[in-house]
Parts: sequence; C-alpha cells; structure tokens
Amino acid sequence: MPETNERVVLSRPLQGIPEPGDFRVETAPVPEPGPGQLLVRHQFISLDPYQRAAMAGRHLSGRTPLGAGDMPPAEAVGQVVRSRHPDFPEGAYVRHFGGWQAWALSDGERTHRVDADAAPLSTYLGILGMPGLTAWGSIIELAGVQPGQVVLVSAALGPVGSMVGQLAMWRGATAIGIAGSEAKCAILTGELGFARAVNYRAPGWLGALAAAAPEGVDIYHDNVGGQMLADAFTVLKLHGQVILCGLMERYNDPAKSKPLDLALPILKRAVMKGLVVTDFEDRRDHFVATVAPLVRAGRIRYREDRVEGLAGAGELFSRLMRGENVGKALVVV
Ligand SMILES: NC(=O)c1ccc[n+]([C@@H]2O[C@H](COP(=O)([O-])OP(=O)(O)OC[C@H]3O[C@@H](n4cnc5c(N)ncnc54)[C@H](OP(=O)(O)O)[C@@H]3O)[C@@H](O)[C@H]2O)c1
Repeated sequence: MPETNERVVLSRPLQGIPEPGDFRVETAPVPEPGPGQLLVRHQFISLDPYQRAAMAGRHLSGRTPLGAGDMPPAEAVGQVVRSRHPDFPEGAYVRHFGGWQAWALSDGERTHRVDADAAPLSTYLGILGMPGLTAWGSIIELAGVQPGQVVLVSAALGPVGSMVGQLAMWRGATAIGIAGSEAKCAILTGELGFARAVNYRAPGWLGALAAAAPEGVDIYHDNVGGQMLADAFTVLKLHGQVILCGLMERYNDPAKSKPLDLALPILKRAVMKGLVVTDFEDRRDHFVATVAPLVRAGRIRYREDRVEGLAGAGELFSRLMRGENVGKALVVV
C-alpha cells in the first residue's frame, strides 16, 4: 500500500466557468481506519454538474462556498482495503462520498456495496448510479412514459440524458435528443438508438427541432433551463409534461440566467414537475436490478469521458462545465 494519498483541492475560489488552474493536486498520508471505519481505494471518481453549485455554496449538499485548499465533494467507487466496520469486509466494492482523492475513509454513512460482477464498476457512478436513477425517477416515475409517446431530452449524451432516452425507448416510446455538436448527435442516433438528434448550436436549430418532432413531443426532460427550456415549448404538445431536472445554463453564472416566460406553460396547458433524485433512493435497488441486465446485454449503452489520474480532474471538470464532455465524466484513479 502506498503511503501517500493524492487529493485535488481548489487553488482559489471559483469564478464563472471553472479552469484547470482553479485546481491543484496535493499529497497527504494515507489515513488509517479507526474503530467503525473503512479505508477505500478509489478506482473511479464521479465528476458531476452539481459539484459546481456545491463549490459555490449553492447546493443542498453544502451552503458554504469552497475556498483555496478545500476538496470538492464527489461520489467514488472503489475497493475496501482495510476495514474496522462490520458491514464492509476487506475486498468488497463500495460507492461512497469520498471526494476528489485516491484514498478515503468512510464511517459507513452514505456508503453502499456494489456488485462488480453485475455491471462494470464505473457504471455505478453513471447510468446505473445517481444519474441513471435520476433518469428512472423522471421518465418512469414522474412522467410515467407510455408506449407510442415522444420524449425529448436535452444534454442528451450525458448519463442522465442518455438514460432518459433509452428508458423511454425501452418502454416503447420514441426518443429525440438535443446536444451541442454534430458529433454528439451522430452518437445519439448511431450508437444509442435515438430516433433523431438536434444540434442546438447549429444555425436555425429551432427549425431543425420542429422538423425532428413534426407531431410534437409528449414529454420534455429538461437538463438545461433558461432559453433551452423556453425553446422546448415550441414543440411540446398541448397538455404535455415537462420534467425540470437540471440547470446547466446557469450553474457557472446564475446572474446571466433568464427566467421562464410563464405564458409558455400556460398556453400549452403543460404539467411541470420538479425532480430531486434523492426522492427516489428507495427505488435504487429495483432500478439497478432491472437495468443492469439491460446494460450487460448491450440493450442500454453509454459513453464515458475518462481522464487518467487526479492531475487531469480539473481539466475534465472544466470541460464538463463548458459542455464539452462526451458522456459520463470520470476520473480513473
Ligand atoms: N435534479 C436532480 O436531482 C439531478 C440529479 C442528477 C443530475 N441532474 C442534472 O442533470 C443534468 C445532466 O447531468 P449529467 O450528469 O448527465 O451531465 P452531462 O449531460 O454529462 O453534462 C452536462 C451537459 O449539459 C450540456 N449543456 C447544455 N447547455 C449547457 C451550457 N449552457 N453550459 C454547459 N453545458 C451545457 C452539455 O452538453 P450539450 O452541450 O451537448 O448539450 C454538457 O455536456 C445536469 O443539469 C445536472 O445538474 C439533476
């Protein structure tokens, strides 16, 4: 076992879009577990958009902005190397909130065993993890998608969006994705089976969206907010549903965000539902048991955007918050 732990901390408080220079790697001794604790060697660390809000002190997980020397929060998966906890034997694989570091102690709080044989370990942070559960909560539980419906989703190639679309298809609906490049759109229709995908950064994209959904959409899952949310109303059917899930457009700079014109949902007689993934924690086991076989069978596919080593974590987080990631953002430790 190495004696030093690598951890990533902020080098200064964040302003706007994160830059790689906002982060630095530092070393510390690998801690020894005390009574009731376990030591986890991380294999994958999850980078997620909510971490930007958490770093700014604008998230449920933390209301204090992080400053220089503070380590950002993150869920990670890894192996228990030393244990003084009865529920987590050495050798077991777990996911827990271990932060941006190679080794972490846990006292068992918010720590869960994962089955490394049921699915690749990294998926427990992506399509079989919190983002996948978010998609399940949205499309299966809140929207109650029906066969024959049309589902539109933004940030469609990320772990949330790609699961929203694929769960909709699994339930017999048609999935249409919105993404920020032609390359992402090609993956959505070519690899993931979306019926159509529209690049919102291309000129005349609203015309392309209308052409992609000529009959309109029954459900719009919104990962972005702001202008994207307003634009989605142009194709929403009367009495359509909107699942409000994410605010990518405003995490870096809330002051620039434009509120929704409420005439849009009024005129569409829309049903809008807010989603918080923790509300679906009691469905997680059922979700994983149902979807892991689909992943193993290749019926549900996913992309990962990996960086090797903690030194690249800041750069990957910067790409994620600029919208340049292609799939689930992961640090391989
Ligand atoms: N409510 C909840 O409980 C809950 C739980 C989990 C996740 N979420 C939310 O779900 C959304 C998706 O999460 P994810 O983990 O799957 O992330 P992700 O899709 O891998 O990454 C975010 C994507 O947002 C897109 N995006 C659109 N407009 C953007 C903008 N103005 N700036 C930056 N990116 C922009 C980018 O792709 P394109 O440009 O290609 O579209 C980017 O790749 C996030 O908003 C997240 O906060 C909510």
